[in-house]
Amino acid sequence: MSHAPVIQNAHYLANQEHRESNARSYPRRIPIAIKEASGITVKDVEGKVYIDCLSGAGTLALGHNHPVVIEAIQQVLNSHLPLHTLDITTPVKDEFVEELFSSLPEEFASRAKIQFCGPAGADAVEAALKLVKTATGRRSILSFHGAYHGMTHGALSLTGNVGPKQSVASLMPDVHFLPYPYSYRCPFNQGGELGEQIGHQYVQHVLDDPESGIVSPAGLIMEIVQGEGGVIPAPDNWVRQIRSITRERGIPLIVDEVQTGLGRTGKLFAFEHADIIPDVVILSKAIGGSLPLAVVVYDKSLDQWAPGAHAGTFRGNQMAMAAGIATIRFIRENKLETNAAQMGNRLISHLKEIQKNSSSIGEVRGRGLMVGVEIVNTQLKSNAIGSYPAYPELARQIQQECFTRGLILELGGRYGSVVRFLPPLLITEEQVDHICGIFDEAVRAAEKKWLHT
Ligand SMILES: Cc1ncc(COP(=O)(O)O)c(C=O)c1O
Repeated sequence: MSHAPVIQNAHYLANQEHRESNARSYPRRIPIAIKEASGITVKDVEGKVYIDCLSGAGTLALGHNHPVVIEAIQQVLNSHLPLHTLDITTPVKDEFVEELFSSLPEEFASRAKIQFCGPAGADAVEAALKLVKTATGRRSILSFHGAYHGMTHGALSLTGNVGPKQSVASLMPDVHFLPYPYSYRCPFNQGGELGEQIGHQYVQHVLDDPESGIVSPAGLIMEIVQGEGGVIPAPDNWVRQIRSITRERGIPLIVDEVQTGLGRTGKLFAFEHADIIPDVVILSKAIGGSLPLAVVVYDKSLDQWAPGAHAGTFRGNQMAMAAGIATIRFIRENKLETNAAQMGNRLISHLKEIQKNSSSIGEVRGRGLMVGVEIVNTQLKSNAIGSYPAYPELARQIQQECFTRGLILELGGRYGSVVRFLPPLLITEEQVDHICGIFDEAVRAAEKKWLHT
């Protein structure tokens, strides 16, 4: 029997580098070609298995190739359904809307309308912007420092990270950024509840001062847990304050649940932690059950746009809707949001133990299975509230040490110095413990290279 020679990662990576755009990003830090994937693991073309705590940037709520997802896709393939229908309805689409609406709080769902968008989160963000601008007749939008809403022109305008914005001229005008409650790096040098309080007083001031320079906004967009911005959960009380401030002033509140949506933070939707009802909710990633799908769900009072006001060829992906139904159902039936909360707490408490023996972990934080570890340089001076400068080189080294030990983690946050954990919602206690064992070793190895040589 003859065995075909294994084509090495290096071959695919060289081809990729040769042919793909210079904008490619993940392969620079995760240099493999993936051949197979199942649950929480992926296997590269050389047969090495990795634990995947990136999960397609939070898309794979049930991990890779979950049987209910595969079965749902196969059923569509066997049923003669059209695979593509623009926004013409089908029984699968009807069922998807039913399933999604029944997972949203009744108070919101009973007044909700849905717009199917082009299949990326950023397109749903674009749709939400157009929706609130049309409904209010206003033009300015409020966003937050550290926000991430995607890479299209409008969505990028709302994003905090100036890196990808610097080289793109004339982004959407009239976007204003407000301070997010990032306690470790509090913009008011206070942190904690005082920092939060000053934060919402500042928001009120900006909205009420006739000389703040900001005309009455069409909407305020926010993440309840900033993901790409460095895994920063907003305190519930702060979220409630923002809801009251916007409601009192008739400003539609847009909650971007693209990354938090469907159980990841310990509730099906992250806004439920603060017990608020937004005016607009943006969903993508997990709702397509691994396949591309994005929607905006919003209060019907905002439904003032004209027929065709938002369109997009790929709004009718039946396989994504079927995979989405299976995923939403599986999450709800198995209460995976509760597992996310419990496993997230376990992960955070292990990481806090690791922090005790480390000289470079500034903060461990998160909500549910969105967890981040901020890597800092304690050899430099701390500021007035005890925070140290970011240490991106060391964060990168920790990521690399994890990778060589078979653990895929991503970086985010200011200067890319937050190590992020985004595992599937099905993760078990044993897997959490195993991951933390690898991470502990990796932190020690990286610190040895950067701090003690
Ligand atoms: C909160 C949030 N909004 C929007 C987006 C953009 O989604 P997409 O990359 O599918 O355009 C992302 C992607 O990570 C996100 O995390």
